[in-house]
Order: sequence, then structure tokens, then C-alpha cells
Amino acid sequence: MKIALIYFSGSGNTNIVVSKYEESLKNLGFEVSKFNIENSLDKIPNLDSFYKVGFFYPIHGFNSPNIVVKFAKKIEKSTSKRNYFVVMVSGEPLNLNHSSNSRLIRVLKKKNYYLESEYHYVLGYNLVFRHTEEKAYRMYDVMEKIIPLDTKEYFVENKTNKLKRVFLGSFLSFLLRIQFPFYKVNGKLFRINNKKCIKCMMCMNNCPVHNITYSKNKFHFSSKCLMCARCSFSCPKDAVRIGILNFWRVNGKYKYKPTSIQEVDKHSRYCKKSFKRYFDKAEERINKAQ
Ligand SMILES: Cc1cc2nc3c(=O)[nH]c(=O)nc-3n(C[C@H](O)[C@H](O)[C@H](O)COP(=O)(O)O)c2cc1C
Repeated sequence: MKIALIYFSGSGNTNIVVSKYEESLKNLGFEVSKFNIENSLDKIPNLDSFYKVGFFYPIHGFNSPNIVVKFAKKIEKSTSKRNYFVVMVSGEPLNLNHSSNSRLIRVLKKKNYYLESEYHYVLGYNLVFRHTEEKAYRMYDVMEKIIPLDTKEYFVENKTNKLKRVFLGSFLSFLLRIQFPFYKVNGKLFRINNKKCIKCMMCMNNCPVHNITYSKNKFHFSSKCLMCARCSFSCPKDAVRIGILNFWRVNGKYKYKPTSIQEVDKHSRYCKKSFKRYFDKAEERINKAQ
């Protein structure tokens, strides 16, 4: 049976999660096709032949990124009722994040697609502040161990999962749709610090919407920015300033490896309760399964 994994990732975390799903599903005997949204908008795949379809995205301001909704708007309306699952990836395990798929649900319903199951995994922040390597590895470790359990439950045992929603989450998700026009304006305010820049062109070559160009010895930013943070997060010299949100800039990939380096966690109190709930619940399931 074939499963379609449709995904967008700004700075790589969602890519990691999709790869873990792919590995787990293959181990369970499924055939997997992956569709990276940033390369598929011009040639929307035919999803009819798939047993199940999943959408994977990083949460942006309590919403799914615009590019994911754009993809959903372009898919062919199914003649029969289809089910799909959603996998969201974010930097904090707040229930407020669970309404992030509300726009996607509405668009897909018009295409005769109905949400069947949903999952939320936490990995290192690519905006706001940098998690410590120790915390980031704990998130990675839990995600890596819980995905085989989630996939077995859903794809083999047919047990679906619904995430807890809170009214404030739906309200914030609605309110923060203002972020999408804002990102277009803010994208134009991105700047390159010429003292740091080594002209590796990674920012320009990797931008998912080709928002960055280079001419006359200068970088230019236009108004297509998705605010995915890929340019600023992956810059080897931390030379990309991200407009009004620059004070939230996070630079450099997480190692996602066990570490002996003792870093001070300046944000240990941030979302402390929800992190505890997230880790406790996941670790209890992992221990039970062993
Ligand atoms: C513009 C923007 C908004 C974000 N908003 C949220 C948010 O509302 N909640 C959250 O938990 N994380 C938020 N994050 C953090 C990302 O969801 C998180 O770092 C995620 O792992 C990134 O996945 P990616 O590497 O696949 O892009 C935001 C990141 C960006 C760039």
C-alpha cells in the first residue's frame, strides 16, 4: 500500500520528521512517496492512488505556512471522500499550537479530504531563541522513539489520534493570520551584513521562493518571503538580518547528538509545564513499549 508524505520544511526539522516517518512506514511494509511542496507547486501530484496522504509542516505563528495551504488549494478535488493525516513540528509543545491546521482543514474539506489523525513533535526553535543542545537532543530522542509507535498505531492498528485544542489556540491562530502579509513586507527589510558575508550564496540558492537575488555586488530581497528562516538559520557566518524580527534570529543547525557540554539553559522556565507534560507522556509510552 502506498502512502504520500507531502511536506514543507524551513530549516530542516520537518525534513527530519518526514524521514523518520518514511523509515518507519517502510519498516512496516508500506511503499512511501515523498513530495516536497516547494518543488511540487507547479506539478501537483495525483493523490488518488495513495492509501493515505499526510501533510507535514513547521508551525508558524500558530498556523501552517502559507505555502502548505497554497499546495492544498491546488490539489484536485477527490470524487470520493478521502482521509488524511497531519504532522506538525514546532519549537514548543503548547496545546495552543494544535489549531495551526485549521486553515488547512477548511481548504482540504472543499477538496473532499477529511482529517483523520494528527501528530505534533517538538524540535529546536529556528526563531525566538536557541534551545540548548541538551534540550534539543532530548526532543530529538523522544521524536525518534515515538514515531515508530505512532505509525504502528495509526497505519497498522487503525488507531487515530486527535490533539487537544483550546479556544485561545483557535483565536490566536485566526488573529495571527496577519503574519502572512507582514512577512511579505518584512522580507523586503532583510539585510546582509557585508562584514560577515563570505558570498557563499547559500541564502540565495536555498530560498524556497527565490526571494533573494544578487546583482551589482548587492543582495536584494523582494516580497515573496515566507519567513521560514532558512536563510538566516543556515548562514555559516550568521550574516542575514531578518528585518523587524531580527532580535528573534536563531543561527546554526542543532547537532541532535548527546552532549557532555554543560550549557546554561537561559530559558529553562519557558513553557516548563508543557515541556514536562510532553516529555513525561512520550517517555511513559516509550517505556511501556520496551
Ligand atoms: C515565522 C516562524 C513562526 C514560528 N511560530 C511558532 C509557533 O507559533 N509555535 C512554535 O512552537 N514554534 C514556532 N516556530 C518555530 C518552528 O515551528 C520550529 O522551529 C520548527 O521546528 C521549524 O521547523 P522547520 O525546521 O521544518 O522549518 C516558528 C518559526 C518561525 C520561523
